[in-house]
Amino acid sequence: GQLNDLAVRAGLKYFGTALREGAINSDASYAAILGNKSEFGQLVPENGQKWDATEPRQGQFSYTQGDITTSTAKKNGQGVRCHTQIWYSQLPSWVSSGSWTKDTLKAVMATHMNNVMGHYKGQCYAWDVVNEAVADDGTWRPNVFLSTFSTDYLPLSFNLAKAADPDVKLYYNDYNLEYNGAKTDRAVELVKIVQAAGAPIDGVGFQGHLIVGSTPSRSNLATALRRFTALGLEVAYTELDIRHSSLPASSAALVTQGNDFANVVGSCLDVAGCIGVTVWGFTDKYSWIPETFSGQGDALIYDKNFGKKPAWTSVSSVL
Ligand code: XIL
Repeated sequence: GQLNDLAVRAGLKYFGTALREGAINSDASYAAILGNKSEFGQLVPENGQKWDATEPRQGQFSYTQGDITTSTAKKNGQGVRCHTQIWYSQLPSWVSSGSWTKDTLKAVMATHMNNVMGHYKGQCYAWDVVNEAVADDGTWRPNVFLSTFSTDYLPLSFNLAKAADPDVKLYYNDYNLEYNGAKTDRAVELVKIVQAAGAPIDGVGFQGHLIVGSTPSRSNLATALRRFTALGLEVAYTELDIRHSSLPASSAALVTQGNDFANVVGSCLDVAGCIGVTVWGFTDKYSWIPETFSGQGDALIYDKNFGKKPAWTSVSSVL
């Protein structure tokens, strides 16, 4: 079977992948696998819906990059996760370095969300409303929103998102929640802050940027997911990749990588309320990992020549 078909049969809503905007029109082999809805039932734009892509200058909106994903998904009958709104990164300097009052920054946020979420209304299953608001040590990650509003920007963001699109699922999304440490504790508090303010939140995305051999066990992963389903939310793995910390990977390391992928996907199957898994790209030919973590990589389920890796087989067997 193919991964999305297997995932749906196993009770998930989808098995999906990020779409790299620069590859889809130039690489036919890439496009063919990505566009097979039996393999990937859902797409998410790797970069095209971020603030720097959609509103690079104040009030000038562009959907050229983001629309690549929605039009590809539409053509192939696939769903879409939309990513992302309020984030410190890939945020144009006119926002991050502006001098704002609460009122003026709130207006900027509302205008951005009303335009971008309005443009994609009806096309997304979920939006990542707030991305990466917590640092790895469990403190609040500094950004222009935190410095302007303190943590009030969290419920504010979800309220503005609800006003921009009342029908889409609204997510908090972050990485390293999988380890169930101080960062996970703070993310739980984040959800409670949003809920206590009466603002809407539907889900938490576990990005799942993990490391071969250091990925938590299936049961520990499920325990971390359940901390959020216990608050009435759904959860999903939204950006899964599991990188080798040194390259080239030995054949033993490829087997470990497969076991790690199976533990992540298996943990989602184990948790009622875990609704799907998205990999952050599918081929080692196109991945952010070597660009960001020097010397590391080969974090995905197909190799650079579009051959299925042991990780693909492990995922298909656990589903
Ligand atoms: C990454 C993209 O994959 C890269 O192409 C880009 O240069 C930087 O951003 N967490 C997120 C994603 O939420 O948006 C990031 O994507 C990876 C980490």
